[in-house]
Amino acid sequence: MGSVPGNYRSIDFVIPATVTEDEVLGLLRAVIDPELGADIVSLGMVPAVRVEPDGRVVVTVKLTIGGCPLRAQIKKDVESRVAVHPAVTDVHIEWGEMNSEERSEVMLKARWNAREHAPDTEIPQTCRVLAVASGKGGVGKSSVTVNLAAAVAAQGFIVGVLDADIWGFSVPRLLGIDEPLEALPVAGSDKPKIIPNEITVGRGLTQGTLKVVSTGFLVGEDTALMWRGLMLTKAVEQFLRDVHWGELDYLFIDMPPGTGDVQMGLARMLPRTDLLIVTTPALAAQKVAARAADMARRSFLRVSGVIENMSSFTCEHGESYALFGEGGGQALADQIGVPLLGQVPLEPAVSAGGDAGTPVALDGTGAAAGVFRTIAARIVDDIAPPTNMAGCSARMLHLVEDALAAKDAALAANDAVQSSES
Ligand SMILES: Nc1ncnc2c1ncn2[C@@H]1O[C@H](COP(=O)(O)OP(=O)(O)OP(=O)(O)O)[C@@H](O)[C@H]1O
Ligand SMILES: [Mg+2]
Repeated sequence: MGSVPGNYRSIDFVIPATVTEDEVLGLLRAVIDPELGADIVSLGMVPAVRVEPDGRVVVTVKLTIGGCPLRAQIKKDVESRVAVHPAVTDVHIEWGEMNSEERSEVMLKARWNAREHAPDTEIPQTCRVLAVASGKGGVGKSSVTVNLAAAVAAQGFIVGVLDADIWGFSVPRLLGIDEPLEALPVAGSDKPKIIPNEITVGRGLTQGTLKVVSTGFLVGEDTALMWRGLMLTKAVEQFLRDVHWGELDYLFIDMPPGTGDVQMGLARMLPRTDLLIVTTPALAAQKVAARAADMARRSFLRVSGVIENMSSFTCEHGESYALFGEGGGQALADQIGVPLLGQVPLEPAVSAGGDAGTPVALDGTGAAAGVFRTIAARIVDDIAPPTNMAGCSARMLHLVEDALAAKDAALAANDAVQSSES
């Protein structure tokens, strides 16, 4: 660890050279079984973890049903969660399947967990959390956050937007909301809770909801300076704990520029947070953006994709100009080993939509709107699919009910034999 002489103190991170089985189990606690709404470790689905001397990790995962369609999702989550540890060289999963007894035990555990372990936050266990971060300010984090949140909500989801940029908030303006937040009594809590501002987006069957929280709703843009003394992480913690979020499929977090504090806080409070990193196309920006990825790695958060913003500008004659350079997004994605989710062109409609409070991704007809909608679809289909997949749950509950019925029948038969013997 290095230190700076004089009155300054620097906080350095030590990159560990080895990984322990306990650390792997700790990372696996961020993998939520979507059916059961609890992490796979507390559910007893990880009977064994082995760390080999070369850093290869072998995780045994027992699925409730071998053929469950969620297997691919759990595989991806296990691999990418464990791989964030710098000392892990490879992750291998050995699959197992529970017998009916283990399965009913897991169901009991899931129910008990849901009742007894109300999470530290008000964010439901099954909610996908995506934080939008960057290495430096002004690259379009807030614009990307509100456009993706709106486009995901317009597919029929309930989407939270948390403006974690406490002092430099811009979400209220970008979504055209200025209602002050209210705290009201809610069932199950002795303290009043903050009720998020809600707006409806999309139409017909795919109508969805945005639930929005920002310090902008608490203080008004002019008095934001009064919040200077407030600790950044404390405010975010409060938003996670004291807001009555209710039902949520997704939570998008607009991260403040250039600080690791909030990432660290999130890693502690919501370790399942996935980061989306926004960068401009300039190759020189890549180095700065890589810092955000590095910070994520050190706080054991997973980066799930890169979004290049302010990519080439196409004029009305159809000519494209790479005003801010090109290739930066792909280069960053390659460097950190995650997909480039899209390139949002530099387009006046994006900032005009922001000024008007109507994200271009909702009704916009230009290229940028299309790219935002494509990225949103990719998030839902691939990067972070919603975790409440009713079909699979129903199938599993059916199997569990069969197993419990079989167990009851066996016990009854046993009782009958015993009473006929006595
Ligand atoms: N693709 C785009 N085309 C045109 N203008 C854009 C685009 N993306 C963002 N902008 C504009 O660039 C400016 C900065 O964007 P934004 O506020 O979203 O960035 P940010 O990364 O959140 O900034 P900060 O670090 O200050 O929070 C805004 O005026 C926004 O309207
Ligand atoms: Mg911003």
